[in-house]
Amino acid sequence: MKLTHKLGLAVAGGLLVAGCHTDMWVQPKHHDPLQESHFYADGMASRPLIKGTVARGHLRLDDAFFTGYKDGKLVTEFPLPVDEELIRRGQDRFKVYCTPCHGQLGDGKGMIAQRGFTLRRPVGNYHTDRLRNIPVGHLYDVITNGYGAMYSYASRIEPRDRWAVVAYIRTLQLSQHATQADKDEADAKYPQPEAPKNEEGAHHE
Ligand code: HEC
Repeated sequence: MKLTHKLGLAVAGGLLVAGCHTDMWVQPKHHDPLQESHFYADGMASRPLIKGTVARGHLRLDDAFFTGYKDGKLVTEFPLPVDEELIRRGQDRFKVYCTPCHGQLGDGKGMIAQRGFTLRRPVGNYHTDRLRNIPVGHLYDVITNGYGAMYSYASRIEPRDRWAVVAYIRTLQLSQHATQADKDEADAKYPQPEAPKNEEGAHHE
């Protein structure tokens, strides 16, 4: 092979390699979400979801748990075990999200209600016969979808926490409407420690 041929091959090879390199920088792909595209007929780079697609972890088959309804009827029983931990969690969430309007007792006398939250309908009071006897599913539904003048808390309180808040509302209702029999039963179940007695001669100032 002549020298000129060898040189020619080397130059051609070099060009090929360089060509590969720049090709990798410029790729016909879409970088930004919702970018325009001339490839798809609808002109959008982002493709629509395939009908019926459910994102991982978002399959919500348990109607009672996720909607408060079962077979079109409000559920009357909690769809999860209610224990002290759940009620305490509910108390925590209730204080964050609900007390500004409903108050610590759920009587509708929160600070916002007292300081100019003037609507045609007052903030709900939980201590009425209607709400004491209402299915728990309704309370869950109010948190999920809002109620009248009250807006939805679905984006801020996840389903399990909504049930925790409902359990706490039931706790508040009992706390304001307990009978002597309820108290005796609770005292028998959870004996209270003796109140400490004052030492003799202690000063009271
Ligand atoms: C910004 C004020 C506000 C906050 C915060 C608020 N609510 Fe309400 N809530 C209202 C008002 C106002 C009503 C009465 C709505 C109506 O009758 O149109 C109401 C009514 C209710 C009712 C009664 C529904 C019925 O059937 O009568 C329940 C139960 C309730 N709220 C639960 C909650 C819970 C639980 C939270 C916290 C997650 C919460 N609310 C947070 C304003 C509020």
